[in-house]
Amino acid sequence: MTLELDTPAPEAPDCADDGTWLACIECDETFAPFSAVRYTCDECDGLLEVRYDDPPTFDDFGAGASTEGPDRGVWRYREALPFELGVTLPEGDTPLHEVPRLEESVGVETLRIKHEGMNPTGSFKDRGMTVGVRVAEELGVGALACASTGNTSAALAAYGGRGGMETLVLLPEGKVAAGKIAQASLHGARILEVDGNFDACLDIVQELAARGEAYLLNSLNPFRLEGQKTIGFEILEAFEADYGTYPDRIVLPVGNAGNTSAIYKAFRELVQSGAMDPAEVPKITGVQAAGAAPMVEAIENGADEVRRWEEVETRATAIRIGNPVNAPKALPGIRNTGGTAVAVEDEAITEAQRDLAEEGVGVEPASAASVAGLRKLRDQGVVDDDEQVVCLTTGHLLKDPDAAYEAGRKPEPVANDVEAIVELLQD
Ligand code: F0G
Repeated sequence: MTLELDTPAPEAPDCADDGTWLACIECDETFAPFSAVRYTCDECDGLLEVRYDDPPTFDDFGAGASTEGPDRGVWRYREALPFELGVTLPEGDTPLHEVPRLEESVGVETLRIKHEGMNPTGSFKDRGMTVGVRVAEELGVGALACASTGNTSAALAAYGGRGGMETLVLLPEGKVAAGKIAQASLHGARILEVDGNFDACLDIVQELAARGEAYLLNSLNPFRLEGQKTIGFEILEAFEADYGTYPDRIVLPVGNAGNTSAIYKAFRELVQSGAMDPAEVPKITGVQAAGAAPMVEAIENGADEVRRWEEVETRATAIRIGNPVNAPKALPGIRNTGGTAVAVEDEAITEAQRDLAEEGVGVEPASAASVAGLRKLRDQGVVDDDEQVVCLTTGHLLKDPDAAYEAGRKPEPVANDVEAIVELLQD
């Protein structure tokens, strides 16, 4: 298979700042990266992407250190980022868990779990926020905003707060897990609960940002994806260290499709620099909940555009999204790497959440979708038994305590009495 990955590295246009610029993925128009606040192309409204004239090789990445600062986590990859260091808590360096029982029961040669729930606020959003807030500082903006299914709002509140900025979050009323609201609230965000779903919240916050009310830090902001790109680098480095090769496939949950786009960008840049052969690029495989699966629909139909689903529903509230704004970046990522997309029922998500928890890996429902999707694709024969796979789990179990309680064993009430307890334990 020939992979159509954009190579080689582009040449810097006149507007570039230190070899970095923004480019429209639709019409190729280029823009100076930090001269003005801009989220989409002035010419055609297409999505923007951060480009570099000197994409990274593995040798550019630091060796790593345990202390806070530029030598660990996301900022260890600073050669591939627009800045040297930003507001850091610190983020990245998440574990790549072995899960031998799950590996055996799914039936693949290797299964590792990249647990992004181990980031400071408990999700991968922290990687994007550390870079996004640094760019906000560069632009001199004092107020940040996002629409969110929960995790972005928690990360925005924490990183914005640490950066001394005002934070505003728009959440779909009644559809955000308790842990996430608690975080956004305590970290000091102003929280607006909107009578509508996430997509409606994003429409509104985009309009607020266009009117200059605040700097938008949803994944529509191309700088967010730069930080999230480091998940791809970390997986390749860690997997290679253990197995001497890269994984065949990376499976991840998809909502707005920002992470899918970011991981694809990591691989493309390594191919551009010559650090990676296109044939070695893992197959990017997206998973959505059956009740919110517009990306899966587009992949199955071979469509270039994703149809917006007005009605969406799933227990995995983090990915309860009907209009994945990053689809124009993510669809090529899935297709050009030979990946696919699959939808899973809520029951299968809960089952996978239990399977992971049994091996000590506590994740929220959306995260477990990756494992549920892998299992389904394996059952369908789309994934081979000799594949080496990494599943991404995007958020921590405690993000959604209600879902965890529903999925888990229930506490048993008992009298304050040893005999009563011993008797109960006989059952
Ligand atoms: N997993 C979790 C736990 C998430 O919170 C999200 C997105 C995704 C997966 C999907 O990632 O959007 O990059 O495809 N959460 C956003 C939020 C929408 O507001 O927290 P994506």
